[in-house]
Amino acid sequence: MRLDGENFELASIALDRTPLGKKDYKLSDGGLTLLKPPAGPFTLEIVTFVDPEANKALSGLYRTNNVYCTQCEAEGFRRITYFPDRPDVMAVFTTRVEADKDEAPVLLANGNFVRGGDVAGTNRHFAVWHDPFPKPCYLFALVGGKLGCVADTFTTMSGRTVELRIYVEPGKEDRCGYALDALKRAMRWDEEKFGREYDLDIFMIVAVSDFNMGAMENKGLNIFNDKYVLASPATATDNDYAGVEAVIAHEYFHNWTGNRITCRDWFQLSLKEGLTVFRDQEFTADERSRAVERIADVRTLRANQFVEDAGPLAHPVRPALYHEINNFYTPTVYEKGAEVVRMLSVLVGRDGFRRGMDLYFTRHDGHAATVEDFIACFADANGADLSQFMRWYAQAGTPELTVTGTFDRKAKTFRLDVAQTVPATPGQPVKEPMTIPLALGLVGADGRDLPLVRANGARVARGVLTISKPAESFTFTGIAERPTLSLNRGFAAPIKVSVNAGADDLKFLAAHDCDPFNRWQAVQSLATGLLIEAVTARGGKPQAEAGLIDALAAILADDALEPAFVAQALGLPSEADIARDIGREVDPDAVFRARRALRERIGGALNDRLSALHRRMSDNAPYRPDAASAGRRALKNACLDLLAADGGDAGITLAARQFAGADNMTDRMAALTTLSLYDRPERAAAIDDFYRRFAGDPLVIDKWFALQAAIPEPATLERVRQLTAHPAFSFANPNRLRALIGAFAQLNQTQFNRPDGAGYDFLAETALALDGKNPQVAARLLSAFKSWRALEPGRRARAEATLRRVAAAQSLSRDTADIVRRALGEQTADDGRS
Ligand code: PHE
Ligand code: ZN
Repeated sequence: MRLDGENFELASIALDRTPLGKKDYKLSDGGLTLLKPPAGPFTLEIVTFVDPEANKALSGLYRTNNVYCTQCEAEGFRRITYFPDRPDVMAVFTTRVEADKDEAPVLLANGNFVRGGDVAGTNRHFAVWHDPFPKPCYLFALVGGKLGCVADTFTTMSGRTVELRIYVEPGKEDRCGYALDALKRAMRWDEEKFGREYDLDIFMIVAVSDFNMGAMENKGLNIFNDKYVLASPATATDNDYAGVEAVIAHEYFHNWTGNRITCRDWFQLSLKEGLTVFRDQEFTADERSRAVERIADVRTLRANQFVEDAGPLAHPVRPALYHEINNFYTPTVYEKGAEVVRMLSVLVGRDGFRRGMDLYFTRHDGHAATVEDFIACFADANGADLSQFMRWYAQAGTPELTVTGTFDRKAKTFRLDVAQTVPATPGQPVKEPMTIPLALGLVGADGRDLPLVRANGARVARGVLTISKPAESFTFTGIAERPTLSLNRGFAAPIKVSVNAGADDLKFLAAHDCDPFNRWQAVQSLATGLLIEAVTARGGKPQAEAGLIDALAAILADDALEPAFVAQALGLPSEADIARDIGREVDPDAVFRARRALRERIGGALNDRLSALHRRMSDNAPYRPDAASAGRRALKNACLDLLAADGGDAGITLAARQFAGADNMTDRMAALTTLSLYDRPERAAAIDDFYRRFAGDPLVIDKWFALQAAIPEPATLERVRQLTAHPAFSFANPNRLRALIGAFAQLNQTQFNRPDGAGYDFLAETALALDGKNPQVAARLLSAFKSWRALEPGRRARAEATLRRVAAAQSLSRDTADIVRRALGEQTADDGRS
């Protein structure tokens, strides 16, 4: 019988109370094998010593700011004791925690509290916790330390009272109110939308300052990166508040999707993550604005997942092979995984989706399930054939749809010819056609949708066609006028669509489409077209931008639109978006110049309207984090950013004034971000002022690091180097690393991709220095190389040389070796787990 275990000292091991000797077991590569385990049931007692203080990988039992805590997903439990560390081995855990009373007055573990008390004759105390729900060891957790607590209760739909507690560093209790509120709303929402009730007597969240990821859904005892718990108007932006709400909900929702039903093995990771992201996205859509949430989610999907899918790190939603599972907590598993669940909900409809979910909970509660099990519930509950749909889990790459619309005035028909392809990805040269729900509308000249009636007289249900072949055609009848095609409404499928439509069609959709996502998309497409033209024309200025400016003006003038939506429309595609759409031989400097020039011209052309709106969206009411107030601030700050886009006095003065006078972090940070783009004295003054105000507040200082790392100027690399020596910087803290190094590599397109390769070398040096301590974070930083092949030849050669140097370094962690080898296209399929 083999048990996993590593990085601790074995003190003793006994079988049915009889100590085992060296001949009874074998220790080898990360495990212990019992050589003659009894045939029947037996009790194994294992005593180990671990050193939490020395644990800088932040996996297993570690110490952060004097608090002891654990992180066991994916394979951290084996750093605590010998155990079958795999998600399909589920057990009931009873945990007794004992510690010095002064050092750790709070002692927590999963489940319900059983008893506690003093240990006679010592200064120690103990607590016993029992979790009645069988779980895999990756959901185990314990915490011990000096912590402040904010408590509340929640009454479940069946009338049970659940105690809620959030534990934080003493003194930070006043920043927990929003997290607590979000938790209660999430609990109610899961009851109302999915019929899911919480199942223990208590639900606890502990916020820690050193954490590799966002948060962790341990049963009854979530452990959080404090960035996703703490929020106050003076220190957190509206986006931070939204992040707290989403992550609190996400981890809570895992109680059913992940914990009660877990994964058979780590290949099924998206079974819990994709589904739970879908659930948290729906929660935010219901709590805030569905249209704005969809736009924000698609922006993130395209920025992260589409790029991953188009490069050397592309992999299916359910990977077929991995060398290091920690490297598969990716945008593909999370965000594309959520998109696959969303497509399912579109294909079977809202009620059909709920039927499928209900069946999933009934059938698999208490079990370790697979993606097949999940999909079978939707097939069975709806009499649907989802066999081709399974390809979404198996085939990597973003499908591309080419659509041609043909209007026949005489026959009053409109024909759609649709062709699909899925690009080759590493290990998958040839692809099969996918099932794609294509949500569409034919928009009439008055802006209203025309009925979608097929040639056989059938109406298209819910406006969704199901595409399943490499090429197919659909004819709609009774179309008297030439309609405008609105395709992939609501971004119902995570695909790229190209269509034979022109700038006039996009302008029309931007003004009239009843689907708000596609109104936004039309503006983006207009801008993208202009920007790509400008970049590929090598420095020439975009022509025909009047269409875009008219479209924006129309949106600014439409009072029926919510401010948050208008703010999204004003946000041009990012440099990374443009680079992705160009796809090959990318010159990041040319992209930057084109984007800056277009912003400047938009700011100039709409100056009066933007100023008026900036004023109209400003109010003197005290800060409130709700979606409507946040939307007004988002619009105000989008206006500010465009007003300053020429780097001239008026805009900069406005930004500097807003920075100095702001009573909340959203407005202050927005003004600082705008100032940071222009090398003017106001910038340096504001950066210094910001540091002085917030020097004692690590989460705010992270913003200060990230802002400077993102400055698009050649001096930035040197600035970032110097900041690594700043007293507030720390290599041991993942948030600080992500703020400074992560922001530089991921947000600063021109400076990370410096033509001399110095940005690449800096990232490589930093990651190598970190690799021996925290390999998970080192590997994640290096994933910034995921699109190096799309660069122009000079940068491509530099990036490749850097990657080869890293790959050749001595004693690389498995995490980092895996990322760089895959980035180089060197991964082989025979030494991974499949
Ligand atoms: N399972 C966590 C989530 O909710 C993410 C995580 C993975 C956290 C691994 C820590 C370690 O998404
Ligand atoms: Zn999750």
